[in-house]
Amino acid sequence: MTIARGCGGSTHWQQRADVVVIGTGVAGLVAGLAAHRRGRKVVVLNKADDQAGSTATGYAQGGIAVVLPDTGDSVDAHVADTLAAGGGLCDAEAVHSIVADGHRAVRDLVADGARFDEAGPGRWALTREGGHSQRRIIHSGGDATGAEVQRALDHAARVLDIRHRHVAVRVLRDDTAVTGVLVLNDDGFGVIHAPAVVLATGGLGHLYAATTNPEASTGDGIALALWAGAAVADVEFVQFHPTMLFDGRAGGRRPLITEALRGEGAKLVDAQGDSVTAGIHPMGDLAPRDVVAGAIDARLKATGDPCVYLDARHLGGVAHRFPTVTAACRRAGIDPARHLIPVVPGAHYSCGGVLTDVDGRTALPGLFAAGEVARTGMHGANRLASNSLLEGLVVGARAGRGAADHAAAAGPSRAAAPDRLTVEALGRGQLQAATSRDASVVRDAAGLGRLCDALAGAATRPVRTRADLEDAALTLAARAVAAAALHRTESRGCHQRGDFPDTDPAQAVSGVVDLDENGLVELKVRAGACC
Ligand code: FAD
Ligand code: SIN
Repeated sequence: MTIARGCGGSTHWQQRADVVVIGTGVAGLVAGLAAHRRGRKVVVLNKADDQAGSTATGYAQGGIAVVLPDTGDSVDAHVADTLAAGGGLCDAEAVHSIVADGHRAVRDLVADGARFDEAGPGRWALTREGGHSQRRIIHSGGDATGAEVQRALDHAARVLDIRHRHVAVRVLRDDTAVTGVLVLNDDGFGVIHAPAVVLATGGLGHLYAATTNPEASTGDGIALALWAGAAVADVEFVQFHPTMLFDGRAGGRRPLITEALRGEGAKLVDAQGDSVTAGIHPMGDLAPRDVVAGAIDARLKATGDPCVYLDARHLGGVAHRFPTVTAACRRAGIDPARHLIPVVPGAHYSCGGVLTDVDGRTALPGLFAAGEVARTGMHGANRLASNSLLEGLVVGARAGRGAADHAAAAGPSRAAAPDRLTVEALGRGQLQAATSRDASVVRDAAGLGRLCDALAGAATRPVRTRADLEDAALTLAARAVAAAALHRTESRGCHQRGDFPDTDPAQAVSGVVDLDENGLVELKVRAGACC
């Protein structure tokens, strides 16, 4: 995006909608469709140039965890697995509500055109991933589930007013409620007046130098919510996927090697050929993600090796069952049928986010959040594999309907753009180096303190480009992560403290982050956190 004309109190364009949805991944498009089907005027924003490669949704591999009838599975079993993975911080009622609504949400997706791989006529194929006690993960194109979900939703969403190259810069509000969104596009700043806004901006993987996430995952929704006066929670729980391809390249978006490969029998070994997870967890290589990522991190530190390996050589038909993984490996000169696949843990998913209820509602009237940006209580301290698309489908629809109903009740709004718009931002490379060093798989007080010091050096600058907004969002998100991680003096789920290796039952409560009146991060600890 090119330099835009400034926001010195004057904006260059104005529009009106009932509902503005920010984001065009699974949560945003499902929310937009739900609000549109309720008869509301919906505008959907995407900061990227177009859909291609801009959403995490499009990259999803393993599948969607869902309890299907007549499979011997049950909602209770899926809930139990989710709670076990979540390290004592899930909201059990939220988990039940979302899991129980999963089959309906998947049926709606199929009605919108999605197709899943079949094991036989009319019978979906089911795979397994870490932490699941059952085969309950539906998939498409082998390991191209996200591409199919995105294709189907993009097609259904042709009825929506979707604006690419539109960056949401602020959620606007008056004293009591949301009034619209300040947007930056090629014509400069503009305001879309709207009484309801759905944040569906995805994750924050680019807090780190290397991540499985697309470029757009820069924590914008966390910052937009905090700037608007809404709270975020559980943000210290950044999930590192155990198996990001290690291809010798230093940073940026790196290919994922789906956990379903282990679900189908691939083994995790070190350079000596020894199992990485033996004796660590009863589920071995299929233990929950935090456990496997922690085991790999420990092995790498012990051996000094740069990576561990997935051995899929004994599996037949890998190229057919896992075409996405195979293509990524081949681009790096690796043939999974003949070679070990080098892997390292990589920043993958934000388990925390904007504090909402199970319908995507925040404490600020008119502001909703769904998908990875939200913290419903579903994931606790560590998300169970393939529960994210599920949550995006279920809560996206609920948030869209809630936003539509709120807009109908509230009537038209009138938003005022801020007089001046400056932000605090650290340079991207500096920030990523600091978080990668000090807030990675294992953290401690010294490193987190160093990270806070680095973040305190952020400079004030105007917002002129998408990158300015993203750098500011990353800086604020990093401050929230660092504050929450420093405060949590225990190890739980994805938050592993080298200086506090044990779990402390007294800390089984969520850390909630707000901004104070000076724009500084404030951390409170709340049991049973809800908006
Ligand atoms: P996204 O799909 O990331 O969409 C975010 C959207 O917001 C984008 O359109 C972006 O451009 C837009 N946006 C962001 N900021 C702004 C702004 N300021 N203004 C305007 N637009 C903005 N989960 C599973 O359940 N199963 C899987 O198999 C699986 N595999 C995965 C594989 C990979 C490689 C990755 C990265 C993730 C995977 N996940 C999986 C996680 C899951 O894909 C994501 O959590 C989920 O798709 C997020 O959906 P979302 O709609 O919340 O956000
Ligand atoms: C994977 O396929 O391993 C990713 C699944 C997920 O992130 O849920």
